[in-house]
Amino acid sequence: MVPARAVFGAFQRRAFSASARNLSKVTVLGAAGGIGQPLSLLLKLNPRVTELALYDIRGGPGVAADISHINTKSTVKGSDPTPTGLASTLKGSDIVLIPAGVPRKPGMTRDDLFNTNASIVRDLAKACAESCPEANLLIISNPVNSTVPIVAEVYKAAGVYNPKRLFGVTTLDVVRASRFVSELKGTDPKDEKITVVGGHSGVTIVPLFSQSGHPDLTSNAELVKRVQFGGDEVVKAKDGAGSATLSMAMAGARMAESLLRAAQGEKGVVEPSFVDSPLYKDQGIDFFASKVELGPNGVEKVFPVGDIDGNEEKLLEACLGDLKKNIEKGVAFVAANPPK
Ligand code: NAD
Ligand code: LMR
Repeated sequence: MVPARAVFGAFQRRAFSASARNLSKVTVLGAAGGIGQPLSLLLKLNPRVTELALYDIRGGPGVAADISHINTKSTVKGSDPTPTGLASTLKGSDIVLIPAGVPRKPGMTRDDLFNTNASIVRDLAKACAESCPEANLLIISNPVNSTVPIVAEVYKAAGVYNPKRLFGVTTLDVVRASRFVSELKGTDPKDEKITVVGGHSGVTIVPLFSQSGHPDLTSNAELVKRVQFGGDEVVKAKDGAGSATLSMAMAGARMAESLLRAAQGEKGVVEPSFVDSPLYKDQGIDFFASKVELGPNGVEKVFPVGDIDGNEEKLLEACLGDLKKNIEKGVAFVAANPPK
């Protein structure tokens, strides 16, 4: 067991050295997939990224060769799908984004992906715990409500868990909410800052229109449902060819950019995210998405849910019940199937 003081000392040294040198190695696991490719492209276009490392069980080096011809400054490396390739991809990473795993087909819930994706995420988390325990981990693979607790359990077992560095990416819910509201109101989506809390699937996604300048919308059941089930709209339209990839790549790139801005000294960077949260721990719910202030050490501050109206209270109640079960499922999976 590594002493906690030594681990935190290492985190602080790393945070300091990464921001002091302003160098940022960003890694994508699942880089050749539907999300991985456009996400890697957007990261290559981001001047804050100095080193881009791409890994996939198939096609990583090809995607890396292609992207490496783009004439921005960052270096790009793709690794072979071997344990050594994975370890060298991860070494020195400041941010690791994980969109590895299978997507939904029509008729499936995100929880139906659990059986396949739980072990993929568990094994990648083990590799991260070994090779880059201080990196910020951004989990995209579904079901996020369960995959994030899986990563936490793997890190705890390895003695390197730092709750400030683990994020379930829920940015797409906020992106969708702002877009859908702007369509309804005829406004510019960039001016629609809609708070979305809870988790990332169905009724665990809770938009809070009352505190986002639109108290009239909390009774708009159709809009609430569209935000909660926006992913299904895409899955249905793709008709068996997967789920959201391009909008997700944009959302993942935005989350990575926000972390880099915060790591490089910008104050007041706030992104919604599914994190180890104090808000509902008294109800046995260890992870919850709400607005999170980011800093050089990852999570700086978790904002409370704040004032909500009666409609939103009912949504939150439904969310908490499902969320608790999803989190427990992830924790139980690692207990029964520890990483080898
Ligand atoms: P995809 O099938 O197109 O790509 C997944 C990639 O992961 C593939 O290239 C595959 O080879 C790779 N992969 C599988 N196992 C791997 C492993 N062990 N190591 C490295 N790479 C591995 O799927 P996609 O459309 O990119 O979606 C990926 C995941 O993201 C799905 O689980 C999907 O549900 C989820 N997703 C999440 C959000 C969100 O908001 N958090 C949004 C959209 C999709
Ligand atoms: C989404 O919200 O688009 C993703 O979680 C993918 C899905 O399965 O809907």
